[in-house]
Amino acid sequence: MMSSHGEQAPSTIVVIGAGIIGLTCALQLQSELSRHKTTRPVSVLLVAREWPSSIPGAPARHSADYASMWAGAHVRPIPATTPQLRREAAWLRRAVAEFSRQVEAEPWCGVTRTPGVEYLEAPDQGYRQQTKETFERETSLGGYRKLAPAEVPEGVVLAYEYDTFCINSPVYCEHLLRKFLLQGGKTLEKDLRSEWEAFTLRNDVILVVNASGTGFGDAKSFPTRGQTVVSNLSHVTKTVTRQNKDGSWSFLIPRFLNGGTIVGGTKEPGDWRTEPDLPTRERLLSAGLTLEPYSHDGPARDAAETARNCRVISDVVGRRPTREGGVRLEVEERPLVKLGNAPAKGRVIHAYGAGGRGYEISWGVASEVADLAMPLLRAETQIKGKL
Ligand SMILES: Cc1cc2nc3c(=O)[nH]c(=O)nc-3n(C[C@H](O)[C@H](O)[C@H](O)COP(=O)(O)OP(=O)(O)OC[C@H]3O[C@@H](n4cnc5c(N)ncnc54)[C@H](O)[C@@H]3O)c2cc1C
Ligand SMILES: *[C@@H]1O[C@H](CO)[C@@H](O)[C@H](O)[C@H]1NC(C)=O
Ligand SMILES: *[C@@H]1O[C@H](CO)[C@@H](O)[C@H](O)[C@H]1NC(C)=O
Repeated sequence: MMSSHGEQAPSTIVVIGAGIIGLTCALQLQSELSRHKTTRPVSVLLVAREWPSSIPGAPARHSADYASMWAGAHVRPIPATTPQLRREAAWLRRAVAEFSRQVEAEPWCGVTRTPGVEYLEAPDQGYRQQTKETFERETSLGGYRKLAPAEVPEGVVLAYEYDTFCINSPVYCEHLLRKFLLQGGKTLEKDLRSEWEAFTLRNDVILVVNASGTGFGDAKSFPTRGQTVVSNLSHVTKTVTRQNKDGSWSFLIPRFLNGGTIVGGTKEPGDWRTEPDLPTRERLLSAGLTLEPYSHDGPARDAAETARNCRVISDVVGRRPTREGGVRLEVEERPLVKLGNAPAKGRVIHAYGAGGRGYEISWGVASEVADLAMPLLRAETQIKGKL
């Protein structure tokens, strides 16, 4: 059937950013589009300055700004005590559902089921009031159990464990990229000056998704520096996090599929240094290795020997793209110079500012982006059927 647009003119959705947010948005859009009949074929074009790559151990060639390559990463829920945290908890549950599906259907993808262990020296009210029921309701993760004082390191006043996921970040992002390509996705390496520039990449761009991480020009965006160490420890099978009284953090996050173990880590809002700091490395290693006995079910190891056996593969500095008030997720519309078949109005869906939670909220953010996109696409492409 001919549409009023003439010869089935194709149209393009541009997604800016090949981080975890851009990749999941691109896949979610493809999957929504495949479920609806459109009068014009719609393709998804992923545009980014930096792209995922991995070698066993560490991603070595990425800038600190490409946060998705540096994340641990684990799913580590935070008690949902504010409206913003409740919104993020809903996104996290969506991601947990997708990770659960993927570990079964695509076990090579880089997501692994992992026990999670939390140690707190000075828990706030949100943690103190948390119960098995609230935890399960907020996260849909199972296995919650409070730990007894005898089971935990000295100084810890609240501790619990649960069933969660660890993600080998570069491996997972590469997996998502391949899936996107297999489903007909297109890619372009380019450094854009503005999200509005994306409308000039093709003459049929009907929508742009800005998943650029931090970007420039949003006064609410700032980086949170994270320094961690990629170590060659390969026997760590639990992700263990300790929040200390002085506000510092220690964690061990295994990177399954031969990726070693991440020993971390700092959270330094507004710190722009991209070079690893060596005293920080020493502090992270000495504090992090005290968690080693709690990070696996195997026989206890001698601490000095563990330290000797721990080789630093690389020092990591990444910037978490943080935003006051959380992720910006909304549609923005501006008049454009008219090009070809594209509408004269440019629509951008913003999806940036995931801070320290990009992986664990990814699929939830992506679903919401697709929900915002489909009604806009209906107007442009006469999508039929249920929306
Ligand atoms: C040390 C550390 C540990 C972390 N641990 C965890 C964890 O355990 N769990 C978790 O969920 N999260 C964790 N995070 C946070 C997580 O890494 C981020 O939230 C997430 O990677 C953000 O993804 P993103 O896609 O928004 O941005 P990014 O990964 O930064 O990707 C941005 C993309 O946009 C592109 N881009 C940007 N500007 C332009 C432009 N002008 N033109 C073209 N392309 C552009 C970039 O090239 C890139 O492809 C951690 C982060 C760090 C640094
Ligand atoms: C995406 O949004 C951010 C924040 O508004 C902006 O600074 C950036 O220029 C946008 N586009 C790109 C390509 O980064
Ligand atoms: C890590 O490196 C150290 C020092 O080179 C070595 O002794 C140890 O066997 C390595 N561990 C693994 C698991 O490869």
